[in-house]
Amino acid sequence: MALVLYRKYRPKTFAEIVGQEHVIQTLTNAISSGTVSHAYLFSGSRGTGKTTVARLLAKAVNCQNRKEQEAEPCNQCNSCQEIMAGNSLDIIEIDAASNRGIDEIRALRDGIKFSPTHLKYKVYIIDECHELTKEAFNALLKTLEEPPAHAIFVLATTEIQKVLPTIISRCQRFDFRRLNLVQIVSRLQYIIEKEGIDIEKPVLNLIALNAEGSIRDAESLLDQVVAFGEKKIDLKQAEEILGIVDINIISQFVDYLIKKDAKGGIRYLNQIQEKGRDLQQFSHSLINYLRELLLLSIDRSLTNPLGLGLTDEQSSHILEQAGQFNEKDWERIIKIFIQAQQEIKRTSLPQLPLELAIVEVISQPSNK
Ligand SMILES: Nc1ncnc2c1ncn2[C@@H]1O[C@H](COP(=O)(O)OP(=O)(O)OP(=O)(O)O)[C@@H](O)[C@H]1O
Ligand SMILES: [Mg+2]
Ligand SMILES: [Zn+2]
Repeated sequence: MALVLYRKYRPKTFAEIVGQEHVIQTLTNAISSGTVSHAYLFSGSRGTGKTTVARLLAKAVNCQNRKEQEAEPCNQCNSCQEIMAGNSLDIIEIDAASNRGIDEIRALRDGIKFSPTHLKYKVYIIDECHELTKEAFNALLKTLEEPPAHAIFVLATTEIQKVLPTIISRCQRFDFRRLNLVQIVSRLQYIIEKEGIDIEKPVLNLIALNAEGSIRDAESLLDQVVAFGEKKIDLKQAEEILGIVDINIISQFVDYLIKKDAKGGIRYLNQIQEKGRDLQQFSHSLINYLRELLLLSIDRSLTNPLGLGLTDEQSSHILEQAGQFNEKDWERIIKIFIQAQQEIKRTSLPQLPLELAIVEVISQPSNK
């Protein structure tokens, strides 16, 4: 039973969007006051609501039942239904990542002058617009200079620094933020209640912790846990299902760094790998854990290990570890492992960057 929660729970109203208050506020004001722009640029990391909000905008401006001074689409009328089913010819979604967009942008340029077939507005949603080729960008720029009154553009990107300044300056820009732990957990809680599934809070915390601020990633991880089919899932099972490395393994690894035991650390790492653990996932969890150590070493009030789903024992151990180095050391160690994580993908020996990181961390004197 694959639920594909992230599709099932795509918000159908602006009110349902978690976080992104600044975006929603400005956009709904524009809709209700009839001052929608012709070009928007949504930037921000993946799975934070860009496409969802773009489609909501498309629905709202075209909704047949929406009254003046209102922003929410009705989700009932023909236009809303057509858009939700993905059947509207007037909502054109272009994925620039898949073919770099030359043909699509050309078709867009030729087609844009024609009025919408059914709807009031044609809405062009151009995903991953930073992937467009230079030619496609230039063609798009021409269109953005003088969009017809019936057209609205929403460009979305996860890499705003790759978008030409001339494009950015022609759009109203919104930055979508990564969601925090509390926001993600509350969304997951909402979903499991709707689905009638029993999942412990520490499992939701574990998922949120590993979602890197993306609700979609969190929903996909929840999918994997749910697909396992047990009525009740505890933390231990969830760790196994998700292949998320047990916090105790991370914690022991950090002990080797603290003891400056390179040989022990490298041997331990190899054991982890032999057990079939994914080293990419390992470094991901390690970096999360090191971040906690950094926060704790700056000030204990900055984070609460118990709130992260750690047991009493694990919490007191992490507090003890945090005090072994000062914040400058933890910062240096984090940077070294972030670098190593990036290199894992690029080498045929995935353990090597981590081994080098161990040696580098241990070879430098600590400040404490
Ligand atoms: N802010 C949010 N509030 C509620 N649900 C969200 C939010 N952001 C993402 N989601 C969930 O994640 C799914 C994917 O979101 P969406 O497609 O809008 O992300 P995106 O920002 O466009 O990501 P990408 O950059 O990968 O295209 C949605 O269907 C929804 O289930
Ligand atoms: Mg998207
Ligand atoms: Zn409607």
